[in-house]
Amino acid sequence: MAFQNLSSRFILITIFCFLTLSSTVTVFGSASSLPLDDIPEGDGVFPSAFPFQIRFHGDDIDPKTAAYSVDYATGGQWALLQKSIGVSAMHMQVMYNNKVVIFDRTDFGPSNLTLPPGICRHNDKVLQVDCTAHSVLYDITTNTYRPLTVQTNVWCSSGAVNADGTLVQTGGYNAGDDKIRLFTPCNDDKCDWVELPQILTVERWYSSDQILPDGRVIIVGGRRQFSYEFFPKSPVRNSPSNNVVYFPFLKETTDPKEENNLYPFLHLLPDGNLFVFANQRSIILDYVHNRIIKEFPQIPGEKRTYPSTGSSLMLPLNLSNGGRGSSTSSSPTVEVLICGGAKGGSYIKASQKGVFTSASSTCGRLRVTDPNPQWVMEEMPQHRVMPDMLLLPTGNVIILNGAAKGSAGWECADNPVVNPLLYTPNEPDLKKRFTLLNPTAIPRMYHSAATLLPDGRILVGGSNPHVNYSFTGVKYPTDLSLEAFSPPYKAPQYDYLRPTISSVDVGPIQNVVSYGQEFSVTFDMGLFQPSDIIHKEYMVAMVAPSFNTHSFGMNQRLLMLNIVDIQRVQYSLVARKVTVYAPSTKNIAPPGYYMLFVVHQGIPGPAAWIKMK
Ligand SMILES: *[C@@H]1O[C@H](CO)[C@@H](O)[C@H](O)[C@H]1NC(C)=O
Ligand SMILES: *[C@@H]1O[C@H](CO)[C@@H](O)[C@H](O)[C@H]1NC(C)=O
Ligand SMILES: *[C@@H]1O[C@H](CO)[C@@H](O)[C@H](O)[C@H]1NC(C)=O
Repeated sequence: MAFQNLSSRFILITIFCFLTLSSTVTVFGSASSLPLDDIPEGDGVFPSAFPFQIRFHGDDIDPKTAAYSVDYATGGQWALLQKSIGVSAMHMQVMYNNKVVIFDRTDFGPSNLTLPPGICRHNDKVLQVDCTAHSVLYDITTNTYRPLTVQTNVWCSSGAVNADGTLVQTGGYNAGDDKIRLFTPCNDDKCDWVELPQILTVERWYSSDQILPDGRVIIVGGRRQFSYEFFPKSPVRNSPSNNVVYFPFLKETTDPKEENNLYPFLHLLPDGNLFVFANQRSIILDYVHNRIIKEFPQIPGEKRTYPSTGSSLMLPLNLSNGGRGSSTSSSPTVEVLICGGAKGGSYIKASQKGVFTSASSTCGRLRVTDPNPQWVMEEMPQHRVMPDMLLLPTGNVIILNGAAKGSAGWECADNPVVNPLLYTPNEPDLKKRFTLLNPTAIPRMYHSAATLLPDGRILVGGSNPHVNYSFTGVKYPTDLSLEAFSPPYKAPQYDYLRPTISSVDVGPIQNVVSYGQEFSVTFDMGLFQPSDIIHKEYMVAMVAPSFNTHSFGMNQRLLMLNIVDIQRVQYSLVARKVTVYAPSTKNIAPPGYYMLFVVHQGIPGPAAWIKMK
């Protein structure tokens, strides 16, 4: 591989770290029968008040990462799902049949999971013949997994689920860097990765993907790729939309020697344009006409994209704002949240000198829809680089994984941050916005991932800050485990409030929802609820499952639906029915599968899957 724009001295000194760089439970219906709270309390569940931090931090403990432990209903609870799934969960995507596609890379030796007999891959570089898996399909319901076969290197790649529920995964490294692969869910355990004959126009490694209102996926950037393109291509030959489009914003935001603008943050805005953030800059891109519509002020403080990795998401879109009607013309308010990151130079210091700089402790909020948006900064109780940031069905945000010092990259971070943080964006008292939650015992450093499950837990896995699988003699061994974090709302004492969906009533095709249509969701709660129904105690949220890697949940979005009415169901002691308007446009909700949650007094039940079409 060549790093043309790096001085040779720099390459020699940093080769170590740069190598990182260089190198209804069926298809539809309610997921309510998942026995997920019955997972035995194994090694991952902690006695309270155990001094975890001592195990990880040694003497240079950062007070902001100090671990603590409180009860489930206040601090949430960790459970170890699998000691090893054989591969390290670097990339994760939840599918609509309650299975999760997980993969790492193909070029760092044999994994701990063998492929079925007779299946081997003839590798491009590292291992001539590799008969081990580098991808698995994890079944949420049964807590089991099976190996999948990737044919070329999927390392540091990107993805999006299309309108049909097929995962479109793009790029990677070496022989995989221009590949497009599909994974279509099945219920007979026969489906596997399919590598397409058509390829990306250029190689893309560390790019980001976003599904668009017309169902295409836009693929933006990648190392030394200052461009974007679309998949699928138009069947019309020479259609201008088939071209790779030069995107100088990515060239301008590249820092010499450490980049700091890879895996750009993308958010599809309700007007159909794309918010793009890289390094410290952000713009609105009209990708149809290749025009920058607006540039925002730079985010204050640290850099926020790889390897100064922070995280970003669009806060929930409240579709009640702007009128009751399904054909509301006014667009919801949009706020982007970015948390964590690292100072410029952190990566170079870590890789050249083993000096780990304190990571960012700030978050910025930008109200993109304001006439003159400004970043409003907040202070997290922890420093954090490589945070995974996810929207919860309640509309709150959870931040987990990562480290308090250093940057992304091999061997480039220290001081793992083991406590998740809950962020409540609507809390008026700034001092109360962040809550420290219970710690895990497993550091999740570089190459870890997390994703929201349809039952409201967070699936957490991965961590491998090394060149190869490395299980002994290193400070942060390669991790092959899967854990689940149950946020406080999962605690059993809230079960009487929990709405459990029994049916989604949409019309002719089961669980297929049309834009702007009115539909209803029937759910059960515990006995002895007050007889009054207080509308503002309920929320109905649609969450798009995200492609998670390198601390960014691509395609993540949460829509709070406009509630028309909530009623008791006749002759039932426990059933209620909420009627809502579906999102009115494909810009607000690109076509495809969403998890539909009913939330009551801040307590979500398990999701039902719906398909926007
Ligand atoms: C990583 O593994 C490959 C293949 O087993 C080996 O050739 C290489 O030397 C290893 N690299 C390091 C840094 O251990
Ligand atoms: C993976 O396999 C290696 C070699 O058999 C073994 O030493 C190591 O403990 C395994 N790692 C895990 C996490 O199971
Ligand atoms: C959504 O907007 C409606 C109408 O402005 C408001 O009443 C409601 O509180 C908002 N919901 C949230 C969760 O902010």
